[in-house]
Amino acid sequence: MAIDYKALFDQGVDRRGTNCVKWDALGSLYQNPDAIPMWVADTDFAAPPEVVEAVVRRAQHGAFGYSAHDGADVRAAAAWLAGRHKVEGVSEDWFVFCPGVVDALYVSVLALTKPGDRIAIQTPLYGPFRMVVEKAGREVYENRLIHGADGSWKMDLENLERGLAGGVKLMLLCSPHNPTGRVWTRAELTDLVALCNRYNVPVACDEIHADIIMPGYEHTSILSIPGAEKAVMAMAPSKTFNLAGLCHSFFAVPDKDTREVMRAKLSELGLTGSNVFGELACAAAYTYGAPWLDALNEYLQANRTCVEEFFAANMPEVGVTKGEGTFLMWLDFTAWGLPEDDLGALLARNGAALNKGTFFGADWGGWMRLNIGTPRRILEQGLANILKAAREVRG
Ligand SMILES: Cc1ncc(COP(=O)(O)O)c(C=O)c1O
Repeated sequence: MAIDYKALFDQGVDRRGTNCVKWDALGSLYQNPDAIPMWVADTDFAAPPEVVEAVVRRAQHGAFGYSAHDGADVRAAAAWLAGRHKVEGVSEDWFVFCPGVVDALYVSVLALTKPGDRIAIQTPLYGPFRMVVEKAGREVYENRLIHGADGSWKMDLENLERGLAGGVKLMLLCSPHNPTGRVWTRAELTDLVALCNRYNVPVACDEIHADIIMPGYEHTSILSIPGAEKAVMAMAPSKTFNLAGLCHSFFAVPDKDTREVMRAKLSELGLTGSNVFGELACAAAYTYGAPWLDALNEYLQANRTCVEEFFAANMPEVGVTKGEGTFLMWLDFTAWGLPEDDLGALLARNGAALNKGTFFGADWGGWMRLNIGTPRRILEQGLANILKAAREVRG
């Protein structure tokens, strides 16, 4: 019998009391344990049934000794890249394991640049991009996205070229982009790669959100752009299938020499261990998870529409970015005229825990990121709580 995925997503899982950051840290981080968590980027959906079954079966075995991570997970990830993302010529040799994608960004920075080098990032952007650059003793070259009056977000290639001409050594790209939800097109990525190649600058690309693509859009992997043969791509099944706690991510690196440099850096940092459950969950997710994922993307599109309609009807002063991918929405609350801490506290007090804009760059106070990866009824409660906050602002 066909699985009713929508019913599974509507049901969700009650994550409270599982030591989960999203729900169980609300008291300490938002001073409101009863708020609806719409912040950290994981979802409230159970992983596909085949993944849960694989983990349970393995758990029953009872022995969890050292494991090699070059088996079924690599084969499944290679097939996923080739099949779902249409990357040509994928080889199992390309894959290099890494616990997390932020770890992968850090390793890319350490492996591909030297202390003091300048690295380009495009803001607003998921905070750890800047953090890994600074932690590694490199400098950020900030290439702000262009925010059009129509609400669009585009790369500023002219400003990027000034940076490249001025000595930027690495382009650290987020594709699809967190927090705007842009799914960069093949044309945009082709232009970006051509520009970086003109200055001989490699691209390290975080594609952790590659699978969460709204109907009508298509993710283009950096690995399928001609000229990006030296790119380093980091990915994981963690966001897609709600597996972040299993700490299993990977690089796909077509160029052999670059791959060896990455491997050496991972080894130097001691990031070579593997998690038995992470491996097999990865393999099961990529092998069996496509129908579940297709249903998830439809569900998330309906959640997006629900958010857009709710703001249009009740809080039209709040700008809602029309996202093309990710389960994150980027919202402009600047019309409320509140300092960022007051805005965050007001929303949390009224029962809506969102990420503050400055997590994505110093200029983005007054913006908020909203996580819609939750059953509709919980999303609606969160939106109702945001409306309560709006009523307080209106007085
Ligand atoms: C763009 C992006 N990269 C990386 C991560 C985190 O990845 P990991 O938990 O594997 O370090 C996130 C999580 O929100 C993200 O949005």
